[in-house]
Amino acid sequence: MRRLIRSVSRKVASAGAGNPPEGEAVVLPLGDVSYHQGLDVIANPVLLVRQPGMRVVYANPAAEASFALSRKAMLELSLGDLFGASEELDSMIDTVLSRQFDARRQDVVLHPPLQEPMHVHVVIGALEANPDTVLVEMLPNEQKVRSDREERILDLTSANKELIRNLAHEIKNPLGGIRGAAQLLEFELPDRSLREYTQVIIKESDRLQTLVDRLLEPHRHPHIVSDLNIHEVLERVRSVVLAEFPTGLDIVRDYDASLPDLRGDMEQLIQAVLNIVHNAAQALAERIARGDAQIVLRTRVARQVTIAKRLFKLALDLHVIDNGPGIPEDIRERIFYPLVSGRDGGSGLGLTLAQTFVQQHEGLIECESRPGCTDFRILLPLH
Ligand SMILES: Nc1ncnc2c1ncn2[C@@H]1O[C@H](COP(=O)(O)OP(=O)(O)O)[C@@H](O)[C@H]1O
Ligand SMILES: [Mg+2]
Repeated sequence: MRRLIRSVSRKVASAGAGNPPEGEAVVLPLGDVSYHQGLDVIANPVLLVRQPGMRVVYANPAAEASFALSRKAMLELSLGDLFGASEELDSMIDTVLSRQFDARRQDVVLHPPLQEPMHVHVVIGALEANPDTVLVEMLPNEQKVRSDREERILDLTSANKELIRNLAHEIKNPLGGIRGAAQLLEFELPDRSLREYTQVIIKESDRLQTLVDRLLEPHRHPHIVSDLNIHEVLERVRSVVLAEFPTGLDIVRDYDASLPDLRGDMEQLIQAVLNIVHNAAQALAERIARGDAQIVLRTRVARQVTIAKRLFKLALDLHVIDNGPGIPEDIRERIFYPLVSGRDGGSGLGLTLAQTFVQQHEGLIECESRPGCTDFRILLPLH
């Protein structure tokens, strides 16, 4: 940003008056936009505003798009017309104009007239050559982006849960009838070789029954809450997975031993973490064969975390990181949805269940993945 401000200053300076003598302020030609091509290509909205009255003297195309106003229309306006009154913004601009700082940056909520409030990260920069003009750049507010994403995940999972429950009941009811009828039919069949067909019906009904039972499972078991140590959970998971993959897989413990106990349902948390670690181990098949597969179980304390709009002073920050091939691109956005699987024979329920269990603990699972590094992060509030 600093570099940008300097380069803009230089551009503005040389545009305004050929080569001005060192230190002499240059007046920015009001409304003449041809000098700011460097800013035109910036993807974030950028404005140059000028005292007195904080009038807009330049707006880049991203700003035009974000306010749905032409550049010409914006040049008639002041910053207040665009953003509404904002003490925060005013005080940032004051400190920059008075040269206490070259640039200020801050998350702010702006209330433009007749528009939804804008949650943005604003950068105010000084222009060396134009002491009465500042540069205003608007960037996405990371915190807001994150909480919007979490909210979407939560909405989606609760809609999912409802859908699954209803669907599972709808399937379950007729299944018993189908299986029973196939069995009766089998007794009546004159030719034994025809049983092959009734057996397909019976076997497939049984498979569906198991699937439906698993779909209904998280809503069945009572929540049994106790004080528990997360490392006990991780040790259990570790030994289960190592029993299945005894060679070629290293499960590294990177524990913060000072972590306080957690209130929760031990069985649910074991199941949630096991599903994630198990996926990682399955994704590591090739490396396990080569002998250099690694899963890291990392625990840390996180402070002041917001989960589903609630602020928690303290949370457990648990990572399961593997050095496998990464989550297939085409399902990356959907892995927490039920029945989404990248494996032959996968049920696509492992992560849905894990997310449900963790959410029952007011927590959240997130995931970042690229080839060679997949990181599942479980946040659990420590009350
Ligand atoms: N650590 C991981 N590395 C690569 N892919 C993964 C990882 N974890 C999950 N996946 C992908 O997400 C999919 C969904 O996982 P899950 O919900 O447990 O269902 P299932 O394991 O039955 O397929 C997996 O099939 C796999 O393609
Ligand atoms: Mg799985």
